[in-house]
Amino acid sequence: MAVLRSTIDVVPTGAPLGAEVRGVDLRSIDDAAFATIYQAWLDHAVLLFRGQQLGDADLIAFSRRFGSLDQAPIQENGRRFVDGYPEIYVVSNVVENGVAIGSLGAGEAVWHTDMSYLPDPPKASALYALEVPASGGDTSFCTMYGAFDALPKELSATALKLRVKHDGTYNSGGYVRAGVTPSDDPRTAPGTFHPLVCVHPETGRRHLYLGRRRNAWLEGLPLDQSNALLDRIWEAATTDALTWRHQWRAGDLVLWDNRCVMHRRDAFDPGARRVMHRTQIKG
Ligand code: SIN
Repeated sequence: MAVLRSTIDVVPTGAPLGAEVRGVDLRSIDDAAFATIYQAWLDHAVLLFRGQQLGDADLIAFSRRFGSLDQAPIQENGRRFVDGYPEIYVVSNVVENGVAIGSLGAGEAVWHTDMSYLPDPPKASALYALEVPASGGDTSFCTMYGAFDALPKELSATALKLRVKHDGTYNSGGYVRAGVTPSDDPRTAPGTFHPLVCVHPETGRRHLYLGRRRNAWLEGLPLDQSNALLDRIWEAATTDALTWRHQWRAGDLVLWDNRCVMHRRDAFDPGARRVMHRTQIKG
């Protein structure tokens, strides 16, 4: 059922997270429209805006309404992207003159939280589709509120006492990050500990904070115990019942709450072009 707020329609996806926001051109929103969008984002954790026509400056201006922007991380091959817009990170499989214009290629990107290997990860990510393949490359989102709520009682009681190390070695496409020596020992690999269960600073709701499965480690536990517990938690946290899958069209902007949502991407035909521009917003 659509909820009418000012002239903007917020239409929930029907999944446990996500809503489409209709009736808005993100190049020209006033404060009242922004307040509606911000509240919808807190309520639904992922928002979809279809049919947008955003240049990089528009994407940056809209993103800045939520907070200050991170500089884009360095691409797998050591490049930064998009002259004049250091905030824009390119997610793409396209290779021009022998050089990849973006990150992550055409393979699967596994479930993850953006940049959670840092002490202060972005609160939000905005991903704008410029070119998309006819099929494949869908992005799925998973509610970490729902993941916490769905844990068996004894598991959530254990989770509340633990911190997990978020690995900084590999990105979600399995590529080693620029400047990092590959390691598969999570105890010594670069990364940051975060509580396994966090309280969302704006909604006050508890959520799991998992980051990435690869090279994760529960602080203080022997590796085999840590892996067994993490496997149980990840299995419970990423069931289809907790997710929403988005099939992209060019002109879609998707904005997610990176604190309480994980995402993953399906593989697609490497011969097709997929070009997405992303910003990341700080708390
Ligand atoms: C990402 O993991 O940030 C990119 C997701 C996508 O390419 O759809």
